[in-house]
Amino acid sequence: MTETFRALVARETDGEVACGFEDLTAEDLPGNGDAVISVAYSTLNYKDGLAIEGNRGKVMRSFPMVPGIDLAGVVEDPGNSGLDPGDEVVVTGWGLGETAWGGYSRKARLNSDWLLPLPEGISLKRSMAIGTAGFTAMLSVMALERIGLEPSRGEVLVTGAAGGVGGIAVAILANLGYAVAAATGRAGQHDYLGRLGARSIVERAELEEEGGPMRKARWAGGVDTVGSRILANTMAQIAPNGAIAVCGLAAGPDLPATVIPLILRGVSLLGINSVYVSNEERATAWERLAREMPMDLLDSMTEVAPFADLPGLAGEILAGRVRGRTVIDVNA
Ligand SMILES: NC(=O)c1ccc[n+]([C@@H]2O[C@H](COP(=O)([O-])OP(=O)(O)OC[C@H]3O[C@@H](n4cnc5c(N)ncnc54)[C@H](OP(=O)(O)O)[C@@H]3O)[C@@H](O)[C@H]2O)c1
Repeated sequence: MTETFRALVARETDGEVACGFEDLTAEDLPGNGDAVISVAYSTLNYKDGLAIEGNRGKVMRSFPMVPGIDLAGVVEDPGNSGLDPGDEVVVTGWGLGETAWGGYSRKARLNSDWLLPLPEGISLKRSMAIGTAGFTAMLSVMALERIGLEPSRGEVLVTGAAGGVGGIAVAILANLGYAVAAATGRAGQHDYLGRLGARSIVERAELEEEGGPMRKARWAGGVDTVGSRILANTMAQIAPNGAIAVCGLAAGPDLPATVIPLILRGVSLLGINSVYVSNEERATAWERLAREMPMDLLDSMTEVAPFADLPGLAGEILAGRVRGRTVIDVNA
């Protein structure tokens, strides 16, 4: 009998995109990959929410498509990777779930260049607790360090702090010795953010008010996961020669700001793209995540959900109601 495996498949009909669970065979997998992975876990990122909820933001570029921008699993066929069957790997980005079939499947065929051996000290499940969100948080920290941020420069603001990228950024920065200010719209999450290491809380509403282009300098740097007016107001309050790692748009893609803080205070905006990153930089970021993300905090901010819960969770993350990270157990 032909072996089947479950996948969440997005199909487009008359311009409408809908996702449903299907039982596929190996022949259904796209033929343009040379490696086969038995997927153990995937995860839920904001972008996955957009894809599952009618392909908002046109995350998926062709159909049928398996969404899911992250996966972790065991190598069945290593292709040209030089790995062995049975090796554990993590894959994030590279167009997974966008231009190539992604992680919401119990089996995946993909380009073997994308396989990153699981970093020492991180299990398959924890690699997905980190996922693109945690990887992006680490890339943001690395970008800020490259332009000279260090704990002695002062407080660092993290926006969207109760979300996935934000929570991991708070925990890593605090663990590195930074004084972290966590901006959140959720009053019920102040204690949680304190446990992750935030030293102070900034009410999201305060950053949503219309403000001047340059205000009292408050933060040495920032990790911004939300964009729009919150980013504009953050820019206006960054200290001279400080920087913001700009990685998200949960509040919107617009930027109602002026160039004044950039010119008069030398503030830098550092764009972060976690999708297309060299394997060298990926390995560095994952090694640092293994060392610098406290694993007990990672576990405390992670829920594990069965595959069947995924469609419902997509709406929850877009509504800003998911806290921290959600691992998807595709075999449960
Ligand atoms: N650049 C990259 O490569 C990259 C990689 C990963 C993610 N991202 C982007 O980063 C963002 C965060 O991703 P995520 O997976 O961490 O999502 P998430 O878990 O949903 O976190 C987003 C957080 O933003 C805040 N938020 C939500 N809606 C908001 C609104 N309307 N106004 C202001 N704040 C709002 C909420 O935090 P509070 O409840 O604490 O206020 C929410 O928890 C997304 O835009 C995502 O697309 C980019």
